Amino acid sequence: LAPVDYQAENATISQGVVEANHVGYTGTGFVNYNNVTGSYVQFAVNAATAGPASLTFRFANGTTTDRPMTITVNGTTVATARSFAGTGAWTTWQETVLNTSLVAGSNTIRATATTVNGGPNLDRLRVDAPTDTERPTA
Ligand code: GCU
Repeated sequence: LAPVDYQAENATISQGVVEANHVGYTGTGFVNYNNVTGSYVQFAVNAATAGPASLTFRFANGTTTDRPMTITVNGTTVATARSFAGTGAWTTWQETVLNTSLVAGSNTIRATATTVNGGPNLDRLRVDAPTDTERPTA
């Protein structure tokens, strides 16, 4: 797998809004999850072949309270209430990586807020080779 970026502002958004008022995002903005349980961003990800992949979520959380989200791939939970902890400022963006497995062709990856605070501000999802797999040097 070669890395492919999927911008949150281009994804399917349920209970959230696209904003661009905190610098440091990539693309044209980020998703501000509504501050409710169940708000989500869903990405349509294409994988050339079936197999392991890493999902890297780039986010900011300007509060000191965790904004956990459950991650599903094709409807199956692959991470329950995964931590999206405070990053120090809404303009401080960090990444969190999890390894999972994709099917060949289209995959649906959803990040759903599990608390009444909603999710963090979500910039993008990067899909890449699994982090425990060494890529050959060119
Ligand atoms: C602030 C901030 C937003 C953020 C929101 C929140 O309003 O400007 O970008 O999404 O807090 O707490 O979710």
